[in-house]
Amino acid sequence: MPQDVDRWRRAGRIGGAARALGTGLVRVGASRRDVAEEIERYIRSQGALPAFPANLSINDEAAHYTPDPEDDRRFRTGDVVKVDVGAHIDGAISDTAATVEVGSTRYTALLSATSSAVEAASKELKGGVETNVLSRTIERTIHGLGFKPVENLTGHTIETYLLHAGKSVPNVSGMANARLEPGEVVAIEPFATNGVGRIGNGPFGNIMRFREEPDRERFPELSELYGRFRTLPFCARWVPEPELRTALQRGRKRLQTYPVFVEEGQGWVSQAERTFLVVDAGCEVLTP
Ligand code: CO
Repeated sequence: MPQDVDRWRRAGRIGGAARALGTGLVRVGASRRDVAEEIERYIRSQGALPAFPANLSINDEAAHYTPDPEDDRRFRTGDVVKVDVGAHIDGAISDTAATVEVGSTRYTALLSATSSAVEAASKELKGGVETNVLSRTIERTIHGLGFKPVENLTGHTIETYLLHAGKSVPNVSGMANARLEPGEVVAIEPFATNGVGRIGNGPFGNIMRFREEPDRERFPELSELYGRFRTLPFCARWVPEPELRTALQRGRKRLQTYPVFVEEGQGWVSQAERTFLVVDAGCEVLTP
């Protein structure tokens, strides 16, 4: 049990409420930049910070799309939108996602493949469980509903200020195995698709992070931004000052930029994710 478990619970409740807010805001005609900003504003209003920019990936994009400041695209009927959000309080992080279909119901089965998979895996999650057991359940649940799990995306343990800590929970069995211990925090995040079941790197996206502190003499503006975000993921929307935004554009090569993940067969993708605290006899959902 992390000694600061209450902080993790608070970050989890805020993340869960932000996810629910976001899924409610995704409607025909809503601007995706406005939705992302409203989610992030809510997290801040609750005394937490976004653990990463709100991800609003659409259709064959599986993850890592956040709107840039000039994005004026609006959601359209039939879009399958992954709302993936996280909050942190002094490094205690939550990570949670749900998928909504905008204004139609063609993909209801695809959406329930991932919500059922996370539910089924949570029933087996307890201290001492091997991650491969969870992976097998996720894989079987998604196959059972007629879809493919995305084999190269995984759930992950979370530690203070570390969104992807050491252990992963693949969405198919036989990839990796580790034992989860009581007190560990783990995000389980199945992805399902009607495509080939693999994602590749699409275009470079709008989410970035510093790998290390930039030289203060040579890059004063970047250094100022480092002071703000350290090594956590951020985006240009969080940099309102024009001169800092320009420096960021010029200095992009000094940062890690996350590509958008796109399904390799152009299949459409759904995702569901909850963060759990592992306990002896089972688990506690931190992001209800
Ligand atoms: Co995650």
